[in-house]
Amino acid sequence: MSAPNSLDFYDAELRAHHEHLRAAYGISPADAVVDIGCGTGLTTREAARSAAPGRVVGVDVSERMLVRARQLTAAEGLDNVRYERGDAQVHRFDPAGFDVAISRFGTMFFSDPAAAFANIAAGLLPEARLVLLVWQRHEHNEWARAIDAALGDAAQPPPPRLDPFSLGDAEATARILEGAGFDGMRFEDVREPVHYGRDLDAALALVRGFQSTSAALASLTDREAARTVARLRETLAAHYSDKRGVVFDSRSWLITARRRR
Ligand SMILES: C[S@@+](CC[C@H](N)C(=O)[O-])C[C@H]1O[C@@H](n2cnc3c(N)ncnc32)[C@H](O)[C@@H]1O
Repeated sequence: MSAPNSLDFYDAELRAHHEHLRAAYGISPADAVVDIGCGTGLTTREAARSAAPGRVVGVDVSERMLVRARQLTAAEGLDNVRYERGDAQVHRFDPAGFDVAISRFGTMFFSDPAAAFANIAAGLLPEARLVLLVWQRHEHNEWARAIDAALGDAAQPPPPRLDPFSLGDAEATARILEGAGFDGMRFEDVREPVHYGRDLDAALALVRGFQSTSAALASLTDREAARTVARLRETLAAHYSDKRGVVFDSRSWLITARRRR
């Protein structure tokens, strides 16, 4: 087994969310599965175990993430998984098609979500299942509100292709999916905590690594940045307990749909 790595932090952060996704997959043996924005591939590997001997493909734009995903997959001895580097908005998916597309927080970063989901639909077989987890709107996510409050005036709205809340409006997202060729959309309101770990310094390093935090800090003078980091630390400390470590509330949508015939 490979030792944990900082790139694996989502697996610890999202452990409660993950149970919802796992229950919704409905992957059967011999299914072909694609994992969109697979990151380091926890969900890809899990799908591979359920789908064996079916093939599973993880797609991600980040080669760094895929290197780690391949390492973990090899360590688990899975031989029905392949990783492809690509932008899911335009990626040419395996023409054989897939029975199931899954994604854990990997579909919110599209500059043109309508085109991106149409491209994903084109890679799926008729009636294929789509199972996604995405954040609800910013104001429903305590972790984001608290971090932005600590960043104060330096907090900046993210550009659309970096906006983690871009699919947070269920009605708008349902329209995007419908236009892209999906039907039978269901949105389940998932309210689970996010876990930033038991070590306050490590939690601070994690939050400083968020794109929105690093962009905000980069816009400040050294003195202002130091004050802002101190405020961030206080915010994390206020959400710390010995029993659970640093924990915030969050809300996400578990979206299921089918590709139209
Ligand atoms: C929040 S992470 C989630 C990773 C993984 N699904 C997990 O749960 O651990 C989002 C992932 O989506 C990937 N990503 C972002 N935009 C993408 C795109 N257009 N096409 C493919 N992957 C993308 C990122 O590189 C990152 O690995």
